[in-house]
Amino acid sequence: MKQLFSLLFLCFLSLSPQLQAQQWFNDKDLTQTGVYYYPEHWDESQWECDFKQMRDLGFEFTHFAEFAWAQLEPEEGKYDFAWLDRAVALAAKYNLKVVMCTSTATPPVWMTRKYPEIRVKLEDGTVLDHGARQHASFASPLYRELSYKMIEKLAQHYGKDSRIIGWQLDNEPAVQFDYNPKAEQGFRDFLRKKYNNHIKALNDAWGTAFWSEVYSSFDEITLPKTRQMFMNHHQILDYRRFAAGQTNDFLDQQCLLIRKYSKDQWVVTNYIPNYDEGHIGGSKTLDFQVYTRYMVYGDNEGIGRRGYRVGNPLRIAKANDFFRPFQGTYGVMELQPGQVNWGSINPQPLPGAVRLWMWSVFAGGSDFICTYRYRQPLFGTEQYHYGIVDTDGVTVTPGGQEYQQFIEEIKLLRKHYAPREDKPKEYLARKTAILHNHENGWSIQRQKQNVTWDTEKHIDKYYRPLKSFGAPVDFITEEKNFEDYPVMIVPAYQLADKELVQRWMDYVMQGGNLVLTCRTAHKDRMGRLFEAPFGSLINDLTGNSMDFYDLLLPEDPGIIQMDEKNYTWNTWGEILTPGKDSQVWATYSNEFYEGKPGVTFRKLGKGTVTYVGVDSTDGSLETEVLKKLYTTIQIPVMDLPYGVTMEYRNGFGIVLNYSDKPYKFDLPKGANLLIGEEMIPTAGVLVFKI
Ligand code: GAL
Repeated sequence: MKQLFSLLFLCFLSLSPQLQAQQWFNDKDLTQTGVYYYPEHWDESQWECDFKQMRDLGFEFTHFAEFAWAQLEPEEGKYDFAWLDRAVALAAKYNLKVVMCTSTATPPVWMTRKYPEIRVKLEDGTVLDHGARQHASFASPLYRELSYKMIEKLAQHYGKDSRIIGWQLDNEPAVQFDYNPKAEQGFRDFLRKKYNNHIKALNDAWGTAFWSEVYSSFDEITLPKTRQMFMNHHQILDYRRFAAGQTNDFLDQQCLLIRKYSKDQWVVTNYIPNYDEGHIGGSKTLDFQVYTRYMVYGDNEGIGRRGYRVGNPLRIAKANDFFRPFQGTYGVMELQPGQVNWGSINPQPLPGAVRLWMWSVFAGGSDFICTYRYRQPLFGTEQYHYGIVDTDGVTVTPGGQEYQQFIEEIKLLRKHYAPREDKPKEYLARKTAILHNHENGWSIQRQKQNVTWDTEKHIDKYYRPLKSFGAPVDFITEEKNFEDYPVMIVPAYQLADKELVQRWMDYVMQGGNLVLTCRTAHKDRMGRLFEAPFGSLINDLTGNSMDFYDLLLPEDPGIIQMDEKNYTWNTWGEILTPGKDSQVWATYSNEFYEGKPGVTFRKLGKGTVTYVGVDSTDGSLETEVLKKLYTTIQIPVMDLPYGVTMEYRNGFGIVLNYSDKPYKFDLPKGANLLIGEEMIPTAGVLVFKI
């Protein structure tokens, strides 16, 4: 019997992430919609009225206790869940499920005063204090112990409660660059473990023979002062790894504690999509990945004069494509319902934009969308932040009305749903991976070599054309199977090793189409250059060798030519000698290396390798290279204008228009229009059934 049990347990552990996600979400629901509520902000006599209206607007779940540690544990070791029980019961009365939070982002004042050592210390020496949030150090064992005690009580209380659908850990946990003495101690322990207690191994990894930096013991090591000029960047690389690990571990421990008591509840956190911080996907115990996203706050990343009211057309798409591949599903915990309070300018979104964002989240394949927040707060730091209802607590805001509309539309679609993966063949044929490791960005950041270099923008120069191709894109890590993708782009992948290069080679030999871009595989995983010709680790793949790289003044860019068209560049250009079987796709047309190649293509094994050794000014060269590649390998693509995207899920096609002009979309043959019209206005949405 015991053996059978362990076997079943092992089977459960080995369930694929996709299968596990199916435990909680049904194809027929498509997506569920929820909203944040802070019972502790409102007089209890108003709760019922709020939940009733929430239900009437169509919301299916609410979100509690995110910042309520002071109310949950008013004195050390004295817990009060009675008020929360009443809120959960009232929500249930109106059919609202609850997402419960661990509230570790806001420790109560008794803790900060009694144990001041739990506070984060900034690099400049400032010690954070009570009165805001997120001032406690994840590296402090005491803060963690106090957190775990509170979480354990909460999990014991709500872990088996079927009204609670899931848990959110902390709030937007970031990587803390914390100089608390416990962090320094933790860093030393991390290094001892990593280098097996051999200080020589650390000295080699950090190249400390340089500038007399050599250490004779781990006790001499301090946290790197990142603002000090020329600080050892190998050390900073390890520090960033350690710091991301602190956040990951804190979340893992919280999750495991909840798991001890919970039944049928998912556990997640709500990350800000800071792709570069390196912690997203790092807490391996979480059930799936969830993000928060704000679209309109002042910067004009949108299209046209009023683009600042609509937002960056690919901001949500990219988060979808980044978060979904980890476990095959994702949710969005926060999406603004209107104006925010923290932007440089806090404009009204364009009418329709809030609904457009919800459809953007849906299009990527999410299982839920939750909005921040139900009522506009009357006091505190977030005054002026819109809610689903106004300051009077009852008038539905324009954003609230758009939520209501979206929820009604989803109910309509539920009648037509198909399985999640029901997508047209020609869409799936365009499936493309972008290989991502945040450590490349960290490493390049310390040695950009040209002030105009921007790793994320470099990656976007490939992502943007892919979305105009109507390609489903997955950002993947090295843990994934490359073979699942007909095309894989590896942009500026600076840190690599022979094993990874061999995996790229195997992928190509078996028929994969690999696109490598400049700065790839220049350094080992510790950021040291290889003792070999510069950049030569990938020569067997590209067939080329690199003569040198050049960097130019932004005000006097160079020209590179492809198919008789000129493109400008200045940030980074590699001057190549092509191999015998390389096709030269683009050549530099000025400077002393005029006529030399910057972009090459070759067939290798059953696949192909495209090498783009240059970063163009506006990404137009990268777009043309990808177009040429997909034509060569005979993968037909769409040609959607920037601002228009199209995705498929559950047998629906979803077309979104972020541009400042109406867009006429021709429905595929036999498709059935369900929402919107073929002429899609700005901020408009079209949904059809295939
Ligand atoms: C988010 C945060 C929320 C709330 C919101 C306001 O970044 O997670 O707690 O502060 O911003 O827009």
